[in-house]
Order: sequence, then C-alpha cells, then structure tokens
Amino acid sequence: MTDVANIISRYKRAPESLLPVLKDIQKEQGYITPRDAAEVSEELDIPVSRIYGVATFYDHFKFIEPAKYEITVCDGTSCYALGAERIIHALEEELGVKRGGRTEDGLFSLDTGKCPGNCAQAPVMMVGDELHGDITPEEAVEIVRGLERPGEGSK
Ligand code: FES
Repeated sequence: MTDVANIISRYKRAPESLLPVLKDIQKEQGYITPRDAAEVSEELDIPVSRIYGVATFYDHFKFIEPAKYEITVCDGTSCYALGAERIIHALEEELGVKRGGRTEDGLFSLDTGKCPGNCAQAPVMMVGDELHGDITPEEAVEIVRGLERPGEGSK
C-alpha cells in the first residue's frame, strides 16, 4: 500500500496540489483506491466527488489494480484497416473477456487504444509497454499463450 500521507507531505496542503498528489499515487501504486481518495480528500480539503471528477478527466488514472498483462490493440485507422477487429475478437475468445474487461484472476486486461505511432507495423498490439507489430489474430493469441502465468517457469 502506498503511503499517501508521505506523498501529500511533498506538496502544499491545498487543493491545487491535487493533480501532483494523484500522479504520485498512480506512479507509485499503479492505481488509486477509494481509501486513497478519501485520505486525499481529508488532507487537501477537497470533496471525494471532485477528486474522482478530476481524475476521470484524465485517461492516465486507474481505479482498479492493473492486470499483470495489460493488452491493448490499437484501433487507429491503419490498424483498423488491417484487421485490428479480428485480433480483438480472437483475444476476446482466448481470454474469455470482452474489450474493456479483465480476467477474473487479474492476469489479463484487454482493450483497444489510441495509435502509438507505429502505423508502419500495423496492426499493432501492446502487452504493457512491449509492442508487437504486423501480427495476425493467430499470432496475437500465440503471444498471449506464451506469457508466463504464476507457478510457471520462464519461457
Ligand atoms: S494506427 Fe495503429 S499504430 Fe498507428
């Protein structure tokens, strides 16, 4: 658990510190819990509803623990034209979740995302920060099957 009080101590105890505080929590913990939001609310004297209002305005902030493997299929124009939808469908079937969802074990999340600027390699899939380009639906499924699960050794 992130030490929110420690993060807040880095900044002026005032509402204008909200964004940097939220950014630090996101950076250190990967997401913002309801408890974090409540603590920030009390310390910076900002209603919790306003904290969520500000945080949801930015794509950057997450409110649930990120999956171990965050899979994002680019749905930009080039990737869309070259079969991104087929990749998404193949991964939905493989993982048993719809886009925007995550597996019950918290290992995988699946979503579409903005163009990362690698259009020459379209269609593109990201696993976390790792980019896989020029892939077929079958290759995307193989990549996911190759990811290490807990209890398995390195592949
Ligand atoms: S459209 Fe997919 S990488 Fe640019």
